[in-house]
Amino acid sequence: MVLNFAHRGSLTEAPENTLPAFQLAIEHGVKAIELDVQLTKDGHLVVCHDHKLTRFNKHAGLIKDYTLEEIKQIDIGSSFHEKYKGVVLPTLSEVLEVCPKDLLLNIEVKNIPVIYQGIEKKLIDCLREHERLSNVILSSFDHVALKNIQEIDPSIPLGMLFYYRILNPWEYAKQSGLNITSIHPNNVYTDKEFVRECKAFGYNVYPYTVNDMERYEQLVEYGVDGAFSNNPEIFVREN
Ligand code: G3P
Ligand code: CA
Repeated sequence: MVLNFAHRGSLTEAPENTLPAFQLAIEHGVKAIELDVQLTKDGHLVVCHDHKLTRFNKHAGLIKDYTLEEIKQIDIGSSFHEKYKGVVLPTLSEVLEVCPKDLLLNIEVKNIPVIYQGIEKKLIDCLREHERLSNVILSSFDHVALKNIQEIDPSIPLGMLFYYRILNPWEYAKQSGLNITSIHPNNVYTDKEFVRECKAFGYNVYPYTVNDMERYEQLVEYGVDGAFSNNPEIFVREN
């Protein structure tokens, strides 16, 4: 069975990585969602893809320079549509509250460049508080962050993200000694051989971000285990 992830919630219908975007994806019946976490100046986990908020509010700067209280004053919804005026970045806790326990969560740790010291422990503490350490995959392009997670809790399934191509990432994943359960490649270079090798090494393969149905079907034919998508038609699809 193929397991698709609503990438940052249902981001074509509501501002990405916000409570309305996650709620819509859940209403559509998605089985898995992907979200990104970062840290505020005063060490709170907030859900957002970009380090800088300018894309959502041209007056706003870097997340790391704001306290949570300040972040909660920044409207990031209006730039999407006026009906979302007043929507602000959610904390990870707020997102966990709206996600049912049977929904698989892929939480991506945003830590490039390495600006969020201690984010891994805060993330695990938060998941523990919400009894949400099951049905979760933690991923990152920052593979040292994955190592840090494993040192805190070796039982957590890890997803290894790759932006550029590297030689034999399946061997690299194995040699890392980390509890990698899935490889998350950029879909543009994911081909049949790539999928075959990952699977031969025992990894699930979840390429990102696949919005075109024809490309999605091709990847399914290659044997991927699912995909990250912004397209509701794809992220609710069960093959
Ligand atoms: O986790 C899959 C995908 O979200 C990685 O890329 O830039 O959308 O966070 P990005
Ligand atoms: Ca992401």
